[in-house]
Amino acid sequence: MAKIIGGIGTSHVPTIGLAYDKKRQDDPAWAPLFEGYKPVAQWLEEQKPDVLLFFYNDHANSFFFDCYPTFAVGISPNFEMADEGAGRRPLPDIQGHPQLAIHVMESLVNDEFDMAVFQDRPLDHGCNSPLALMWPHEPAWPGAIVPIAINVLQYPLPTAARCYKLGKAVRRAIESYPEDLKVAIVGTGGLSHQIHGERTGFNNVEWDEEFLRLIVDNPEKLAQMRHAELVELGGAESAEVIMWLAMRGALDDNIRCIHQNHYLATTTNMAVAVYEQGGDDQAPAAPVHGNPQLAGLDALEGTYPFDLHASLHAARLNRFFWRHREPAFRALVARDLHAAFDELQLNEAERALVTAQDWLGLIRYGVSFFVLEKFARVVKMSNLAVYASMRGETLDDFLKTRRVPASA
Ligand code: FE2
Repeated sequence: MAKIIGGIGTSHVPTIGLAYDKKRQDDPAWAPLFEGYKPVAQWLEEQKPDVLLFFYNDHANSFFFDCYPTFAVGISPNFEMADEGAGRRPLPDIQGHPQLAIHVMESLVNDEFDMAVFQDRPLDHGCNSPLALMWPHEPAWPGAIVPIAINVLQYPLPTAARCYKLGKAVRRAIESYPEDLKVAIVGTGGLSHQIHGERTGFNNVEWDEEFLRLIVDNPEKLAQMRHAELVELGGAESAEVIMWLAMRGALDDNIRCIHQNHYLATTTNMAVAVYEQGGDDQAPAAPVHGNPQLAGLDALEGTYPFDLHASLHAARLNRFFWRHREPAFRALVARDLHAAFDELQLNEAERALVTAQDWLGLIRYGVSFFVLEKFARVVKMSNLAVYASMRGETLDDFLKTRRVPASA
């Protein structure tokens, strides 16, 4: 079974990444920060987790306010680093862990956390600024990541208590994953800082030290705090420390802080801490495996629920059809289908299914009908004709089975 080996709390200030990329490790202005990450790197080197489950937030890089999820789990096999306006950081892509991520998703939904899910969206400094200091990554990262994005930008944010409970649910999910994986939980953000308005530059190191004490000894007290209290004590953008509570919730009631550092240079008190499990009195509640809502559906003929396994398997193909909302892409499909295939990097099997207009084959492959129907418009087929094709009937025969064939 998978096991949580401990947790890491860390700031994720973008300048940490910038200083790293500019190799300022020995610069006296930055050395106290980098020194603080050495024991973390050492701990990870000794513990060798297979997966880091990362509670982080996206800073309007991969998600925008047109649809900004409160909680979202990344299930991709691979994550790129985001371009935040100055080009991509010189870091390799990092592997995801799709099977664990899907298990976590299903388990969280069973636990009544209705999470969003994302694929193929790059990770920004919320993940990658501290990650580079903790994990060696040349030529490749030593393990995988399961990113869980939390909205800390656009109110209403989830409450601190909700984040703490999310952590507990994540623990139940991980501890019910059948593979022997070592998982470390990372919570990012803070500590005190404010970077907008006339209060810009606000810090409160005394509160930060109290926060670091409470996260070990009394996380329930932190979980009861309102966002306004966090903003007043630590500065507006420090309310993101609710992501540390998600990490804390996934750990034992008793934990040991084996390393802690904080360093305030300009605007943010940059903190990092490592926590080891101290043992728990309570066994976690028995989790539910898979998706019990769909149990028994395998026996129902001719029915293919579009689930995360299908979505992951057919991600490129679903995007190919989804792109048919764009006039320029439709024109490309009409003009040069193979160029459109190339753009989406479809494999041979996927190209063959599209070329044959094998509607049923596409559904069985994992395509959602609701993107497929956009392609039907382009090839001038009605939905009724697609339904008939999936049933292996002519349109006329299919219509004879309808109550009012003339309505077609
Ligand atoms: Fe942030």
